[in-house]
Parts: sequence; C-alpha cells; structure tokens
Amino acid sequence: MAITLTSDDAKDWIYKGEGGANLVLGYCGSSPFLVGKVLRVHKVLRSEVQSVIERKRLFSECEQLVWGDIPQLVKSTSKEIAEQVFAVQVMSPLLDSKHIDGGVPIFVTKEFLESVEKNVHTQRPPWRLHATEVDLLSHSALLMSDHSVFSSGSLKDDVCVAVEIKPKCGFLPSSKFIAKQNAVKKSVTRFRMHQLLKFHQGEISQPSEYNPLDLLSGSREQINQAIAALFSTPYNNFRIFLNGSLIFGNLDGSDSSKNTVYSANQSGEIGASIEDQIKVRST
Ligand SMILES: Nc1ncnc2c1ncn2[C@@H]1O[C@H](COP(=O)(O)OP(=O)(O)O)[C@@H](O)[C@H]1O
Ligand SMILES: [Mg+2]
Repeated sequence: MAITLTSDDAKDWIYKGEGGANLVLGYCGSSPFLVGKVLRVHKVLRSEVQSVIERKRLFSECEQLVWGDIPQLVKSTSKEIAEQVFAVQVMSPLLDSKHIDGGVPIFVTKEFLESVEKNVHTQRPPWRLHATEVDLLSHSALLMSDHSVFSSGSLKDDVCVAVEIKPKCGFLPSSKFIAKQNAVKKSVTRFRMHQLLKFHQGEISQPSEYNPLDLLSGSREQINQAIAALFSTPYNNFRIFLNGSLIFGNLDGSDSSKNTVYSANQSGEIGASIEDQIKVRST
C-alpha cells in the first residue's frame, strides 16, 4: 500500500454509486496515479455496531472450511484484502485474468472516511443512507480502474459509452439437496422470486420484466427480449454511462424513475445546453 489518503484528499473523491457493501467514489483531482480510478470504501449496517475485536473474524468457521483451499483468502487481515484476493485467486482462473480487476488496497485515515461520508451524504439514496454507513474502523479501501471511462489518457477527447449489466444468476438449480417444499427454486429463478417479494412488500411498483435466463440463453430472440426488458425496467440491473456520467437508469437502483433518460453534453455533463446534448433515448 504505497499511499495513504488523508482528510485533505477527501474533496477529490465524488459519489459514483454504491451497493449493499461498498460506497464507490470517483476521482476528480489531478494526481496522475489516481486519475481514472475509483475507490471502494467498505460500509457497515447502522443496526450492527460492531467492536474492533468482533471485526477480527472476517470468516466464520463454515466459511473457513469452504475457502480453506485458498489460505491467502482466509488469512486476509481486512475486507479489502479479502475482496482483492477473491478477485485474483478465485475469479481470475474462472473468467480469465484479463477480465478481472482485483484493485489495490490503499491506506485511508479515519478523518478521510469521515470527510468523504459527509461530502457524499446528500447524494446517497435515502434508503441506503438509512441502512448503512461508512465503516470508520476500516484502515484501507480498494483502489481500482474506473470502468465507466477509458483508462488511457490519450483517449481523453473521445466519447466513451459504458454499459453496466448486472445479469444475476442465469440458470436454475437442480441440486438434490433442495427440499420438496422449496421445489419452486427449480422452475422459477431466484431473481423472479425476489422481485415478487419486493413487489408484495411494496418496495417496487412492478416486478422487473427482466429474466436472467433469457440474457444467458444463447438464443438471439431471448437475448433481445432480455435487453428490451432491461430498458423498460432497468432497476439496478442496467445502467448506461457517457464519459463516466449516468445517462440511463438509476444510481439508486430503484424503480422510482424507471425510464430515467438523462441528456448529456459531450463531456458527460448532465443538463447541458440543447445544442450540446446527445439524446440517447426518449421515453
Ligand atoms: N470499478 C468501477 N468503475 C466504475 N463504476 C463502478 C466500479 N465499481 C463499482 N462501480 C459502480 O458502483 C456501483 C456499486 O458497486 P458494487 O460493486 O455493486 O458495490 P457492492 O460491492 O456494495 O455491491 C456499481 O453498480 C457501479 O455503478
Ligand atoms: Mg453490488
């Protein structure tokens, strides 16, 4: 870990997105080492205030058994290191290392994390804000390439369109360990069941039209159907970025503005003048 980010550096990191486990920040400063990078900062559940001692157990006993073959993973001293080792040692052999970005853990001070959390506060989706906060006990964060822009500086003047798809599990399980009362798992995708649950709990106004089995079917017609469904109900499964700025989909993954189409100028700024605008899709 060559560098340490301190409170002075916090102003250079802007909100890029977040999932259940990490806050993702984009770099807007001028350090050549950091341009084109994002920082993944670990979050914790607000309801689970853990002590430093509890944090030392990264893997439960069962997890240690499952991952015992990869000693570097179970010996990881932080979540960031575990995440990186998982990407490099588990995912790379499966998907080819050229498709995997493990990132580099770097040191961050508590003051950096506090400032960053304060700065991005208003941009975070309320429901995420309510549930999670930056893990202030963490001493490191994962630095990796920003995959929504070209990594090479020489392509600065080019237009970069990045498409993010979260495909979800694209096959049905057939394990003999699935109990009779859970047999529905063999015919209905986990994604579909989760959508119906969210719908019945009032979290979404309609279940997603997307079916992971279509996208991964190998059939041209079904793949087209999956893509059409992603456009119609993108939720957190589909986003399009222009020069690193979101132009289609939702950062918060909600269905609140499910067909959000942003207009952006060529530098990716949203809300630019009409002449500069590229209309990606009209609703
Ligand atoms: N390396 C990256 N480059 C660009 N955007 C990223 C990168 N990593 C994450 N993001 C953005 O941040 C969002 C949340 O990241 P994600 O990895 O899903 O977080 P979590 O680990 O909490 O699930 C993604 O949906 C994506 O839009
Ligand atoms: Mg995620």
